[in-house]
Amino acid sequence: MTQNDRDDTSSTIHGHGTGSVDTVLSVDEVTREAGALSQERPAVEKFAALADNAPLLTIEKLNAGYGKMQILFDVHLQVKKGQSLCLIGPNGAGKSTVLHSIYGFTNIMGGSIRVNDREITALGPNQKLKEAKIAYILQDNSVFPDMTVEENLWMGGYLMQDHAHARDAADRIFDKYPKLSERRHQPARVLSGGERRLLEISRALVMNPEILLVDEPSIGLEPRFINMVFEILDDLQHNEGKTIIMVEQNAKKGLEFSDVGYVMVSGEIAMADEGDRLLADPEVGRLFLGG
Ligand SMILES: Nc1ncnc2c1ncn2[C@@H]1O[C@H](COP(=O)(O)OP(=O)(O)OP(=O)(O)O)[C@@H](O)[C@H]1O
Ligand SMILES: [Mg+2]
Repeated sequence: MTQNDRDDTSSTIHGHGTGSVDTVLSVDEVTREAGALSQERPAVEKFAALADNAPLLTIEKLNAGYGKMQILFDVHLQVKKGQSLCLIGPNGAGKSTVLHSIYGFTNIMGGSIRVNDREITALGPNQKLKEAKIAYILQDNSVFPDMTVEENLWMGGYLMQDHAHARDAADRIFDKYPKLSERRHQPARVLSGGERRLLEISRALVMNPEILLVDEPSIGLEPRFINMVFEILDDLQHNEGKTIIMVEQNAKKGLEFSDVGYVMVSGEIAMADEGDRLLADPEVGRLFLGG
């Protein structure tokens, strides 16, 4: 996105879109109309209330981007321990950039990110994982195809001083997921799409993180695998108390799954509400749920 695109969109924030609803909306149209979704941005109190005023992770007035290019503008986010939060919005809105910023991949130009009350804004990815217990599950296919399933899992423990700890953690994961266990000595390239996604998630679990950042868990998967991945995430949230922040292009799935949803448009949070309430919102439905 260029600065010009952003100016175009923000200039329509106070008006209403006039695009036709008969045709499939283009990304530009969705962005333009979504910019008009809520005339006012949610107040800080709204973000706090959605996290029951007890946030584990708090983002305040975050301005961030890549190099000199600013992508995020005064982004707020709050999530409670054991909650799930989903970011939806048009392509290029900055959803992945929010996750990148939490994990330490972006240039932070202002604002703060805290876990409990610890300021973690300036920590690099390795410290985020080791000290702040935040794990990032990549959007791109990131398994090492020529390494075995087991070796891929061990890689998740690369920050551990003692290799034996990584092996123990991998063994616990194999106990939990027999599907992976059956293939532990095979190269990762033989895995199905769903098994591969399971391996990507499991690899992030080796360090026993508290917060999982998950970018597009359903991308590129057949429907039956999509359900499997959401079941795995559901188990991690509800049985293991993990806190999940996800980005999901499949807005229906993402909002159905998540306690809280945010709509992002042009680098800003345009709406924030309970997942179910966003699902029921007619404008959200028209723009993001294909109906
Ligand atoms: N590593 C990067 N370096 C420079 N610019 C980037 C980088 N990653 C993303 N961008 C730019 O930042 C903007 C926001 O991208 P981002 O990936 O956060 O959007 P998104 O909402 O996740 O979109 P999508 O739904 O397509 O994944 C885009 O204009 C993109 O081109
Ligand atoms: Mg993305």
